[in-house]
Amino acid sequence: MATVTTPADRSTDNTAPRSEPSGGGRDWWNNAVFYQIYPRSFADGGTDGVGDLPGIEDKLGYLELLGIDALWLSPVMRSPMADHGYDVSDPRDIDPLFGDLAAMDSLVAAAHARGIKVTMDLVPNHTSVEHEWFQAALEAAPGSPERARYIFRDGKGADGSQPPNNWPSIFGGPAWTRVTESDGKPGQWYLHIFAKEQPDLNWENPDVFADLEKTLRFWLERGIDGFRIDVAHGMAKPDDLPDHDWNTNELLRNSDDDPRFNNPAVHAIHRWIRTVMDEYPNAVTVGEIWVRDNVRFGEYIRPDELHLGFNFRLAEAEFSADAIRAAIENSIRAVKDVGGTPTWTLSNHDVEREVTRYGGGETGTSRARAMLLVELALPGTCFLYNGSELGLPNANLPDSVLQDPVWERSGHTERGRDGCRVPIPWEGSAPPFGFTTGTGTWLPIPADWASLTVESQLERIDSTLSLYRTALELRAQRPEFSGEEVDWYGSPTNCFAFRRTGGLVCVLNASTESIAMPPGEVLLSSTPLTAGKLPPNAAAWLI
Ligand code: GLC
Repeated sequence: MATVTTPADRSTDNTAPRSEPSGGGRDWWNNAVFYQIYPRSFADGGTDGVGDLPGIEDKLGYLELLGIDALWLSPVMRSPMADHGYDVSDPRDIDPLFGDLAAMDSLVAAAHARGIKVTMDLVPNHTSVEHEWFQAALEAAPGSPERARYIFRDGKGADGSQPPNNWPSIFGGPAWTRVTESDGKPGQWYLHIFAKEQPDLNWENPDVFADLEKTLRFWLERGIDGFRIDVAHGMAKPDDLPDHDWNTNELLRNSDDDPRFNNPAVHAIHRWIRTVMDEYPNAVTVGEIWVRDNVRFGEYIRPDELHLGFNFRLAEAEFSADAIRAAIENSIRAVKDVGGTPTWTLSNHDVEREVTRYGGGETGTSRARAMLLVELALPGTCFLYNGSELGLPNANLPDSVLQDPVWERSGHTERGRDGCRVPIPWEGSAPPFGFTTGTGTWLPIPADWASLTVESQLERIDSTLSLYRTALELRAQRPEFSGEEVDWYGSPTNCFAFRRTGGLVCVLNASTESIAMPPGEVLLSSTPLTAGKLPPNAAAWLI
């Protein structure tokens, strides 16, 4: 019979202190569980069917009950919403769609009163075309200081009608758009790695640094506990903007030699951001880093750069014990040498929800539940995406409602990310499921999500929401969730088990047979055990 064997090299130590975080300090984020809110989709305090800040504040009781430590809000700054807030026209104001500065202050105070930290998305790689700087750049002449804050170049060819290089936009189509000059003639081109409404800033320009510093201080002085830094591996560009041999241009999954990202000059930018952050020692930065090489990844979280970096390996791994173990080992290895903290995430607003990624239906749900236990068992910082606690799948949306710029820019070949951004079903038996007091929602909520509402899951002990609550509570309270080391057990094919230094054992069964468990008391399992055995597509915690 398949069984798990105990490693001989390290003895269980239940007396170990609570996690001694790496990075030299006991900073709150090193062991925290962050909950990502996609503000459009979390809760609508009004009637327009779009989530907002009052809606979030109204649900703080739910978030406290869930047991998370900190919020990460996707962008709520002023934006024309070409990329739903990742195109910022004023980084020091709240978009009226979401509320105003008073609503933000109120949310932060109310969250703090419940012991929940609040972090915000910051978008330093680009602005919106509606940002006053870009508007001024359009009006100004080539070579002007206004244009020098962005990346304007003359086109190629005798009449400049060819883009300056062959870079594609991440969202499809070219990464360059040609502007019309004040004389009415076609003129220079500007670079936009993302949509044409998101011009890239020139990070060699001192104005750009000075303005980001203003933005950092603006929010930190208002009590914000830190920032998720969008495209933290972007910003710096190679001097000559060379052509590239494009093999892939997959959405947010760039390769390490992609000249649009991961330029070594980016580290000076992070070091500079850190000097500002160091004046606010209780605030954290976590960077979005799509970098595969472990050494190059680790460079971003050297002690004088970002505090944390998103490692997306777990979100990309297929549901197989080998792939997941490799993702875990690599994520730990990437930070170890620089004394950093590992981070774990199964999904966010850019990737397919885990239930769907793992096969959908009951199997996908079982696997997603299992992976939650794997994630929360690991040493370091965890990021949960709103709706994952309900086991939401990606929604199948009709073409007519799609809003992600990817859909248009790819010429309707890529459906984009709307399927993982559908509003949260709160209560009741039909859409809009209490999301809004209005009638419609910005993306339709599938009618068959009635059994997935918060209300119905709170009542069921076997629901995914109940599993999340129990798991988060155990993780926060049990001393066995401590220590930075992970020791692997010998285990049957397509299964694994590891033990934290503090004594927690996590077993994953990704095989098709039930397996016997290692010795110990079962704290929690993602699926009930059958005759003491762990069924397929399940995980368990033991002490
Ligand atoms: C990041 C965000 C993504 C956004 C892009 C451009 O990757 O996570 O949602 O579209 O940056 O800002």
